[in-house]
Amino acid sequence: MDNRPVGVFDSGMGGISLLRNLRALLPEEDFVYYGDDANAPYGTKTEGEILALSRADVDFLLRFDVKAIVIACNTATSAAAKTLRSEMTLPIIGIEPALKPAALARKGGKIAVLATPATLRQQKFTDLMRLYGEHALPLPCPGLMEFAERGVTEGDELDAYLENAFSSLRGVRLDGVVLGCTHYSFLCGAIRKALPNVPLFDGNDGTARQLKRVLTEKGLRSGEKQGSVSLYTSGDAGASIPIMQMLLSTPISL
Ligand code: DGL
Repeated sequence: MDNRPVGVFDSGMGGISLLRNLRALLPEEDFVYYGDDANAPYGTKTEGEILALSRADVDFLLRFDVKAIVIACNTATSAAAKTLRSEMTLPIIGIEPALKPAALARKGGKIAVLATPATLRQQKFTDLMRLYGEHALPLPCPGLMEFAERGVTEGDELDAYLENAFSSLRGVRLDGVVLGCTHYSFLCGAIRKALPNVPLFDGNDGTARQLKRVLTEKGLRSGEKQGSVSLYTSGDAGASIPIMQMLLSTPISL
């Protein structure tokens, strides 16, 4: 048994969508969430920049004596998880685009994979595509995470962005849309409106189950109690923390 908190980080507020799944599955755990809002977005940065920022995020969380770290960011996972794991003994759990479940549920059509440009150009994604991507259409969405970052989850501006971003999908028979960035889960209502009747997939549930498995295997589960959440940002706390709190309770239905 280990009552130390679990550290969770993202480039900004998107990882709150994963934090919700973590809390639902592990209600007795304490979580410290760090959003690097001052440096968001990561998805348009180089691998070296993302690795340096991810190291700084980990250093911030280590101050809280965390027992494990969840990288609640597909971009940081693909650019930095392997290196971070080689540098420390602490369990590090990452997230990747949920292409596998989407491909397994496919009924003959295509699967659109929405993610940041950095996620889509990484070797990790190339490897995933080799396994499950025969019918996948990767779609980089620079600028999309900024809507969630501002707390904008619906409205004309977002609809216009999506209409333009999805223009290449017009007339394509889609069997699934993978939300390959943790920010996008908050935009699921607008994405569903733009691509009606297509199942949406994110990696949040699978990642939460992976954390539970790892904590259990390593004897790191917390004792029976009501867990807590502490929210931190590298940005303007007065502006960011209220948006994080709002996102923590915004319904998401994929
Ligand atoms: N939320 C992040 C992800 O899952 C990254 C967004 C960004 O910083 O570009 O990829």
